[in-house]
Amino acid sequence: MQNEQNERSISVLSKEERSYAPSAAFAKTASVPSKAARAKLSAAAARSPEKFWDAAARELHWFKPWRKTLQWKVPDAKWFVGGKTNLSYNCLDRHLDGPRRNKAALIWESEPGKVRTYTYLQLHREVCLFANALKGLGVKPGDRVAIYMPLVPEAVVAMLACARIGAVHGVVFGGFSAEALRDRLNDAGASVVVTADGGWRKGAILRLKDAVDEAVKGAPTVKAVVVLKHADNEITIDETRDHWWHRLTAKASPVCPPEKLDSEHPLFILYTSGSTGKPKGILHTTGGYMTQTAWTMKHVFDLKETDVFWCTADVGWVTGHSYLAYGPLLNGATAVMYEGAPLTPQPDRFWSMISRHSVSIFYTAPTAIRTFMRLGEEHPAKHDLSSLRLLGTVGEPINPEAWRWYKKHIGGDRCPIVDTWWQTETGAIMISPLPGATAAKPGSATLPLPGIDADVVDMTGKSVPLGSGGYLVVRRPWPSMLRTIWGDAERYRKQYWSQIPGMYFTGDGARKDKDGYLWILGRIDDVLNVSGHRLSTSEIESALVGHPFVAESAVVGRPDELHGQAVVAFVTLKGGKIPSPELKELLREFVAKAIGSIARPAEIRFTDSLPKTRSGKIMRRLLREIAAGGAVRGDVTTLEDFGILAKLQQDEE
Ligand code: PRX
Repeated sequence: MQNEQNERSISVLSKEERSYAPSAAFAKTASVPSKAARAKLSAAAARSPEKFWDAAARELHWFKPWRKTLQWKVPDAKWFVGGKTNLSYNCLDRHLDGPRRNKAALIWESEPGKVRTYTYLQLHREVCLFANALKGLGVKPGDRVAIYMPLVPEAVVAMLACARIGAVHGVVFGGFSAEALRDRLNDAGASVVVTADGGWRKGAILRLKDAVDEAVKGAPTVKAVVVLKHADNEITIDETRDHWWHRLTAKASPVCPPEKLDSEHPLFILYTSGSTGKPKGILHTTGGYMTQTAWTMKHVFDLKETDVFWCTADVGWVTGHSYLAYGPLLNGATAVMYEGAPLTPQPDRFWSMISRHSVSIFYTAPTAIRTFMRLGEEHPAKHDLSSLRLLGTVGEPINPEAWRWYKKHIGGDRCPIVDTWWQTETGAIMISPLPGATAAKPGSATLPLPGIDADVVDMTGKSVPLGSGGYLVVRRPWPSMLRTIWGDAERYRKQYWSQIPGMYFTGDGARKDKDGYLWILGRIDDVLNVSGHRLSTSEIESALVGHPFVAESAVVGRPDELHGQAVVAFVTLKGGKIPSPELKELLREFVAKAIGSIARPAEIRFTDSLPKTRSGKIMRRLLREIAAGGAVRGDVTTLEDFGILAKLQQDEE
């Protein structure tokens, strides 16, 4: 199962043996203050995971208690069965009776430098107004509302408003194309789209409303579009369908009692790439998701009442759902949001923000860290980063060099780093250090959290010995686990619960070192991880063959120092079409237009035909090796046409 890249990672990773224990000063005030405390917690949770999660759920508000903590029959889990709760109530109302009432919930900064702060009380009011506005548009519990917005407070308001009235939100990242949006609207059967007249990115305005107009033409379930006035951008308004946010909320009542929702009531659908061309709508429900995001936020980030937490992810990704919006608000924390590009107007934007807002916990992706590392330490050095006390990473493996740079130049060698492993499907963090308890090893997400039965196994499901590699699985259900793939229960079962019988298969390969630490080696399926974002090779392939000049294509990843992986597309053209540098550029743009700019191939390589086995399967391993610039090794006798291979290798520019 381990491809070339994984094998290389093993040898690179195993060179880094140093471990970094938490400092005594940090451990002293940490919620889990020692290795022994974590071990004790984990042992108790392993003996009775249900008791462990039961206690975590009790820290939140329930209108009606649950009868049963877990009901489980592979692959269907129900957590806190019979319980009634509301996520928006837990994020907002619960904090209004005490000292958090006037505490900052969100501090937002726009790319042009505008700052807006919402207290818990103010945010509650905005959410109630918008929830009533949605009701006024006819939105009922269970209806799907798509959110296609820039990273503005109103995006969080819209999510919380949906959660308040029991509507299911489906956030679509604002960088996705009109086509990608249309497919998601149709798959979810969304009745309302919430968008804005534009958003800021690298000094330019993202024309979100135009994309919505185009998408909605092919999405007949959409009855209404709500538009936030944000960028003062010229847009077209269709009076029969479009509504300005400010007009709807001006008319709405600020009183909106939360719906008492079943613990298993659907909360959100978030689309992610799988190994087929069609993105999967990952469905999360209410009570379990709430419980695990709250617990992990509190303990993985060792959250204190006075912290200022900044997660740089967009709400279009799961990280933005769980650790920009829900996790911090469930814990009554202050969260920072930044709408804009990290290097705009200067490469020190992030460091200036940390200093100006006194950020104490900073959570970002390894690709961002590698970018900053390249730009040089003089940029962070210009700013006072002494407010920071903890750093986090997510989304892809971090190379030890970047880890050490982050620790030294951002964390002042004083802040622990939590390398958190999880997925859209897991909903919340699963494998991570607890910063006061776990010695970190750069590049390792360390150990499964208490209550999480994750392991590395062989194909039969047997745990591999320490020091070996295999498949990363989770043996038992966890509260924030996905419940299904929207509209495709069979794909859910097959994809996650049948590859290794009786266990959840993550799609990742991993290695367990001599201390039982887990080292994630990356995806073993046809999913790429570019800058911490998941892309499906077949989704890009189908975009390419949608171009009238393209006959066939095969997309693979090649290792990339900055982005983790880069997209390389091998393309055969239809008869009579001549390869040219212009055509390469055209096809790159074509993919960006079809999916979004994150999917734009780094490289297009034309070829007469693709290497295939006799049964017609594209030999991806060979293509990966060619893309990586390495020599082709191993058995190639199954190639249908030997000439192709030589041709491909010559074809390099
Ligand atoms: O391959 C793993 C990688 O990202 C995948 C999940 O992607 P997504 O659903 O988009 O969620 C990303 C943010 C939670 C995983 O299957 N991944 C995530 N975190 C890490 C990681 N790889 C290594 N180390 C991590 N800390």
